[in-house]
Amino acid sequence: MCDAPKPADLLAWYDRHARDLPWRVAPADRVAGVVPDPYAVWLSEIMLQQTTVAAVRDYFTRFLTLWPTVEALAAAEDDRVMGEWAGLGYYARARNLLKCARAVTQMGGFPTTRAGLEELPGIGPYTSAAIAAIAYDLPETVVDGNVERVMARVFQIETPLPEAKPEMKARAASLTPDARPGDYAQAVMDLGATICTPKSPACGICPWNGQCRARRAGVQATLPARKPK
Ligand code: ADE
Repeated sequence: MCDAPKPADLLAWYDRHARDLPWRVAPADRVAGVVPDPYAVWLSEIMLQQTTVAAVRDYFTRFLTLWPTVEALAAAEDDRVMGEWAGLGYYARARNLLKCARAVTQMGGFPTTRAGLEELPGIGPYTSAAIAAIAYDLPETVVDGNVERVMARVFQIETPLPEAKPEMKARAASLTPDARPGDYAQAVMDLGATICTPKSPACGICPWNGQCRARRAGVQATLPARKPK
């Protein structure tokens, strides 16, 4: 039997290899007590819905320069915001962005629980979990495509997607630590984006390679399985 993968091993890897992203508080700063700005976390998560990290980077930086606070964004002209959003696509996101900024300004700040966040326009279960974990360090489990792939491999989940989703989610929840859950959520995303990639995963440098059941069986490149169309 393999041991279960240890969140602490992934966090130790993240401390050395975290991607430098403009919306992220670097792990050393986070551990030293720097607290993320919920506005920046929210803005990044809305932009990252359906859009790649590479495409979001410059938009995020520009929005934060133009509108450094949620109150500033709430006071912006709709057309100005829509114009700056141009190119990111999925324009309903930009409309909800403004609605959400105005609701949050009225409330006097972002809600501090996942349930509270989820009541806001444009924030569904994934985004509420991501904001709660990253902004508030709450032990919420964040499951995107990267995380599903990592779970499919470390636990060798052979059931094809989409049926495997509940099992992947349960496995991801079972690993979510009470210590540094925000960094952990971002660490799993980074692992999936940089090492446990869809093709040719770099298992030789993976912090979980000793516990990965798919690697032991030599089937990592075949997972996650997908139902034939
Ligand atoms: N995709 C969605 N949220 C993300 C985040 N916070 N960092 C990197 N990729 C992401």
